[in-house]
Amino acid sequence: MRVVVLLCLLCVSANGQYDWNGPGRVVPDSGTNGGNACNVDQSSCGCCLMLQEMNRLKMYFDTTLTDLEEDFRKTNQSLSTLKAKRATFTAALYTGDNFRCFGPFATNSVIVYKNVFLNLGAAYSTDTGLFTVPFSGVYSLAVTSYSDSGSPGFTLAICSSLQVNGKTVAAAKDFNTNDKEDSATIVVALQLTAGDKVSVSLAKGCFLCDDNGHYNTFSAFLLYPTE
Ligand SMILES: *[C@@H]1O[C@H](CO)[C@@H](O)[C@H](O)[C@H]1NC(C)=O
Repeated sequence: MRVVVLLCLLCVSANGQYDWNGPGRVVPDSGTNGGNACNVDQSSCGCCLMLQEMNRLKMYFDTTLTDLEEDFRKTNQSLSTLKAKRATFTAALYTGDNFRCFGPFATNSVIVYKNVFLNLGAAYSTDTGLFTVPFSGVYSLAVTSYSDSGSPGFTLAICSSLQVNGKTVAAAKDFNTNDKEDSATIVVALQLTAGDKVSVSLAKGCFLCDDNGHYNTFSAFLLYPTE
């Protein structure tokens, strides 16, 4: 009984209606069952207060849980989108024990990197040398180029350029008749649109050579999608 009286006093003072006449003056919260219980049986006031508090907590937890479930749904969806939009490839020009060269040709030509290390999403073609952008987003693109003239004194030329839809984005260039070997690297981050064609072009008269060393590589990976 003492506990009930104490709870009722708390109830009254919490409502700002403190009164020595006791629990009868408590104005119950009409929206809850607990409130009705207070009207019917004043001795159950303590119980009604606890019910009110429990209802309040239940509503709070229900709302919080609903919010968390919605957050989780969105996060899970983002994760699924990221997983579905994997786009990464790296290919080297050739592989094998024999040193082979691509070019020189009479016209500018797309370099067809034949030795694929990784082609997640299969967006790079070993037939055409084209990387067809599967999802709009920010991509990291890299090209390494290497050339060997065979012997000192022979014309050495390294001249590859990274192109998007046939337009040069960045180029590597080195013409020299004095040294025997040359190498160069291009690395860029680009905003690309689904369907863009990315390739590496070899300028006419130039050539690149490769073997098991994989000196010539073409790589791209999606940093993050933007749609
Ligand atoms: C997360 O999303 C995937 C793909 O939409 C779905 O298959 C999976 O059931 C979801 N996981 C949960 C725990 O909701």
